[in-house]
Amino acid sequence: MDWKIPLFKIYWDEEDIRMSNEAIRRGMFWAIGPNVEKFEDMLSRYIGTNYALVFNSGTSALHATLLAYGIGKGDEVIVPSFTFIATANAPLFVGAKPVFADIEEKTYGLDPQAVEKKITPKTKAILPIHYGGCPGLIKELAQVAQKHNLLLIEDAAESLGAAVNGKKVGTFGDCAILSFCSNKVITTGEGGAVITNSTELYEKLKLIRSHGRAETSNYFSTNEYMDYITLGYNFRMSDITAALGIAQLKKVDKIIKMRRENAAKLSKKLRKIAGVDVPNPPDGFQHVYQLYTIRLKEGLGKRDALQTHLAKKGIMAKIYFPPVHFTHFYRKRLGHSLKLPVTEKLSEEVLSLPMYPSLTEKEIDYIADAIADLFSVNEG
Ligand SMILES: Cc1ncc(COP(=O)(O)O)c(C=O)c1O
Repeated sequence: MDWKIPLFKIYWDEEDIRMSNEAIRRGMFWAIGPNVEKFEDMLSRYIGTNYALVFNSGTSALHATLLAYGIGKGDEVIVPSFTFIATANAPLFVGAKPVFADIEEKTYGLDPQAVEKKITPKTKAILPIHYGGCPGLIKELAQVAQKHNLLLIEDAAESLGAAVNGKKVGTFGDCAILSFCSNKVITTGEGGAVITNSTELYEKLKLIRSHGRAETSNYFSTNEYMDYITLGYNFRMSDITAALGIAQLKKVDKIIKMRRENAAKLSKKLRKIAGVDVPNPPDGFQHVYQLYTIRLKEGLGKRDALQTHLAKKGIMAKIYFPPVHFTHFYRKRLGHSLKLPVTEKLSEEVLSLPMYPSLTEKEIDYIADAIADLFSVNEG
């Protein structure tokens, strides 16, 4: 559908084109190349971790991470259901069981108390997300992980640059994954990364990412023999993609600033509408607004009516997320008994509105006015 205002627009400039063109014009190193290492170096500096490894998607980054930790059959990983399905699928990729825990209503992330109740002797890791760019209660989740000697793997796919009191998400756990898919804070079309301080994890991930091959130099430009020492995949990011990643990462602070300014403008207008709750991160939680999600406490009927009403006006609004445990695949696998009251309630009340750096004042007014049409407006 051709939306008047889509949910997101990619923020790109001439440098994205220049960097990608340069990588192409070299006529060499389109797979493994210098941009990959440079992008990784820039990423680890930006986040503040010892290592970053880029992947061809956030999903392969998750898969590789669980493999690297040796998580597998008989193990359990605690995940939210209020997430993109890849978070929950990751344990299944390696033969482990995703165990859903409920979320809390401050950040829409995993509820540390609910998580603690789901821990069993089989639990190996907690895999929380930072919903839509808002940090979750990650310090509390880190305490739970520490207390029970569990891995904490942050799914920071949606939250590059988000922070709690200046400490970036992705640095609270043992490692974190990022996504550079089209709708993320910065994008390479498709792409992902793992960030970590662990040398051991980094070395294992390098092998898993590239066929289990002990690479001492660029495989494609050397005739030296390289041994294959473990089972591996091709989860590599291409050098052309990494060139785009470098150009995007150079703009990340500007992109986040523009997102925050637009979110503040939209919130100022929507706050006047009784019945609409705007994003409200806790004090010290630095949101990056990968999603701008409102909550309609009147519930499902009103939320769905608003989505339809906005669509008629050419405004794309989407539900992030319908619970993963309600999908056909998980219902069939898990049966119908699982109850996650907060997840289920929130998924009936949330609606994500268009949010991107180049959103104009006129577009913000158009969105706010369209929403106001459907609600009684309280002046002031
Ligand atoms: C929370 C979360 N985890 C994982 C992923 C998967 O990332 P990718 O689309 O890059 O595979 C996404 C992306 O949509 C996501 O939002």
